Amino acid sequence: MKTAACLDNLPPYLFAEIDRKRDEKRAQGIDVISLGIGDPDTPTPRHIVDAMAEAIRKPINHRYPDYAGSPAYRRACAEWMRRRFGVDDLDPDTEVLALIGSKEGIAHLHLAFSNPGDWSLVPGIGYPVYSGGAVLTNSNSWYMPMHEEDGFLARFWECPPEILAKSKMMFLCYPSNPTAATAPEEYLDRAIAFAKEHDLLLVYDNAYSEIGFDGYQAPSILERPGAKEVCIELFSLSKGYNMTGWRIGFAAGNPQAVKALGTIKNNLDSGQFTAIQEAAIAAMLGPQDCVQQMCDIYRRRRDLIVDALNAIGMQVEAPKATIYVWAKVPDGYTSAQFTEKVLEEANVIVAAGTAYGPYGEGFIRISLTTPDDRILEAVQRIKATL
Ligand code: MLT
Repeated sequence: MKTAACLDNLPPYLFAEIDRKRDEKRAQGIDVISLGIGDPDTPTPRHIVDAMAEAIRKPINHRYPDYAGSPAYRRACAEWMRRRFGVDDLDPDTEVLALIGSKEGIAHLHLAFSNPGDWSLVPGIGYPVYSGGAVLTNSNSWYMPMHEEDGFLARFWECPPEILAKSKMMFLCYPSNPTAATAPEEYLDRAIAFAKEHDLLLVYDNAYSEIGFDGYQAPSILERPGAKEVCIELFSLSKGYNMTGWRIGFAAGNPQAVKALGTIKNNLDSGQFTAIQEAAIAAMLGPQDCVQQMCDIYRRRRDLIVDALNAIGMQVEAPKATIYVWAKVPDGYTSAQFTEKVLEEANVIVAAGTAYGPYGEGFIRISLTTPDDRILEAVQRIKATL
């Protein structure tokens, strides 16, 4: 049997690898603390689960869903965008598309836009699916440089002209997974202008929009003037509403891009279970205090871990957003060496910065989706290895 060549070019999927290592250790009876994947440990809020319980009993929901998402779901997404960001000009029929989690939207945009040999600009430190989607379509990724000294803002303007000429898409993600960096409005405006100048689709991954601290509230790129001419923005209910397992999100923005992605999806999936869409409507249009409560939990954990890591001599800055802390590895280690050491000697899983791209060397990502006492224990175990 011969599989497609692109499969040979795909690196092992980061979180599947992490799960494998965790399960191997646990099978040996070892108590592993995973600060790897960002998967909220507290349950989906009660009113959302109740909405699902009601929706699942409706026979009409047992039939095929609408491909693009139910009209009610798409209207709710547009209304959420209005309430949350003041973006009030989204047409739910042509500018909103339901996604089975934003991950599939990212990967499928490559099918919608990339021909073999084309290029995409992807963050030099970013979610692996941006470049993984390119591999699956036999297209290429140009890693935009990202450096600590400029706040990990991807330097799209450094893309060589010969690559830019063959590029169709540019992916950005702020608040950033994994660096937790946020982007100022001027940067977003510059990215929009750049996408217009070079005829790129700007794919703005806003999966972490709801997790902000100390008064920080992430913007939507669609708030910025002219954004809809070149941008598609991807939202997820996973992190903001603790719904990772439900697989629900949406794309919004440029109607041509929304239509192209919808056409790919019409041929690949049959939409998300309508009952899940009804629960997501309850999440977006119901009480929002659950979002603040989750941010409070992550802020407390952020402070715990930042203080504890600084106390053991690792340099860490407190992030303004996301469920991650991006920490420098101690001198003398590469990201991979330190990650391995912590796994082997402390039985703690963290993600190596280099797993997110070439500019991640020297860093690790720590997820805040583990209870406080386990986070503190993990730091103590790490300390013991140093
Ligand atoms: C992460 O840990 O980066 C995310 O939880 C993975 C995902 O959203 O698929």
